[in-house]
Amino acid sequence: MIFLDLGLQPLANKYLNLNQKKKRETKFRLLLDFNVKTKIVSIKKTFSSKKMFDDKYPYRSSMSKTMKENFLRLSNNLKKKYKHKKILEIGCNDGAFLKNFNNNDTLGIEPCKNIANLARKKRIKVISEYWNMSLANKIKKKHGKFNIVYSANTITHIKNLDNVFSAIKNILESDGIIIMEDPSLLECIRKNAYDQFYNEHIYVFSLIALSKFLEKHKLRIFKVDKLKVHGGSNRYFICKDQNKIRIDKSVKNLRKEEMKLSLHKLKTYQNFAKRVINSKLKLIEILKRIKKSGKQIIGYGATAKSVTILNYCKIDSTLIDYFLDVTPEKMNRYLPGVKIKIKRYNKNSLKNIHFVFLGAWNFKDEILKKEKKFIKSGTKFITHIPTPRIIK
Ligand code: TMP
Repeated sequence: MIFLDLGLQPLANKYLNLNQKKKRETKFRLLLDFNVKTKIVSIKKTFSSKKMFDDKYPYRSSMSKTMKENFLRLSNNLKKKYKHKKILEIGCNDGAFLKNFNNNDTLGIEPCKNIANLARKKRIKVISEYWNMSLANKIKKKHGKFNIVYSANTITHIKNLDNVFSAIKNILESDGIIIMEDPSLLECIRKNAYDQFYNEHIYVFSLIALSKFLEKHKLRIFKVDKLKVHGGSNRYFICKDQNKIRIDKSVKNLRKEEMKLSLHKLKTYQNFAKRVINSKLKLIEILKRIKKSGKQIIGYGATAKSVTILNYCKIDSTLIDYFLDVTPEKMNRYLPGVKIKIKRYNKNSLKNIHFVFLGAWNFKDEILKKEKKFIKSGTKFITHIPTPRIIK
C-alpha cells in the first residue's frame, strides 16, 4: 500500500557535470510502499544495479571520521572474538572496513570499478561484480566458504533479496555468521527522515520485517546493535537456523520498541506521511524567511539524501546558493534535479556564511564540532531532523 509520494526525483548519486546539467535527466516518481503482509517498507519504482552502480560512482565510505571509527570499532571486536576467520564483505566500497584486517583473510565485492580500485590501493582483494548466486558459486569454487559475511549499507540497495540471501547462505560455513547493517526504520520514522528514501535505498528495514523475511531462508537474527551512523542504523547478527546460538535480549528489546511504535501497522506510515508534508512546508518557510531578510544560505554535505529533500521541496539555487562537500567525485558538479552547484570544502569555507543547511545531518556531531569556530562567530546551521529548525 502506497503511503507517501515524494514527487518526481532524479537518480540520487548521479551528480551532473556542466554538459549533463544542460540535458534532460532520468526522473521517476518516488512512491513509498508498506506491504501489510510482509511488513516490508520499500520504494515502488526501482532501477537496475547496472544503471545505479557504475564505474563513476561518487560515494566513498572513508570520507567521514565517524564511518571510519565505526568500522574500526567493529573490526577490533571481530578480531578479538573470531580470530583468523575468513571474511567476505559485500559492497566493500573503498575498503574502509576491510583495511583493518590481514588481507589474506578477506575478500571484498564492489561492483563500482572506480571505488573498487580505491580499495585495491589499500591492498585489499576485490572482485568488481554484482552480488548474486552465480558470483557466490564462482567465489566458492575459488576461495571456499567464509566464516563471516559482512555487509554495510548495501543489502537494502539490491532488489532481489531472495537471491541475495540464498547466495550468502551458499557461501557461508554452517557455523558462520552474517553481519548486516543498514538504516533503521524505527529511527527513520522517529526522526521524520524521509530522505532515507531515494532510488538506491530500495528497502528500509525494521527488525520485524527483516526477521520475518529471514525465516523463509532458515536464517535468524541472534543479536542487534543500535548504531548512530547514517541517522540511526541497526547492525544485525544473523546465523543459520541449525546454529544454536543463544538469542540475545537486544533482539527482544528492539522488537518491543518497534511494536510500541506500531511499525507493523499501515496507520503508522500514513501518519508519518502527514508529518513529512508538514516538514516540507516548514523547511521551505524557514529558507524563504532567511532569504527574504537578504542573507545567503549554503548547503553542507551534498548527500544522496539531500537530493530527495531538495527535489521534494523544490529547493533550488534561488534558495540555497551552493553546497560544500569533501568528496573529490562530487566537486564542481551539480546536485541532480535541482542543479545546485557543489563546491570543494576547505576549512575556511564557512567564513562570513550566515546560514548552512545541513545536508549531511547524519554527521551532525562531527560537522558541528569541526565548525565550532564559525558557529561561535555567528554561523547558524539549519536541519529538518526531526522537524525543520535553526540549530541553537
Ligand atoms: P552520506 O550521508 O550519504 O554518508 O554522505 C555524506 C556526504 O557528506 C559525503 O558526500 C561526504 C560529505 N561530508 C562532508 O562534506 N563533510 C563532512 O565533514 C562529512 C562528515 C561529510
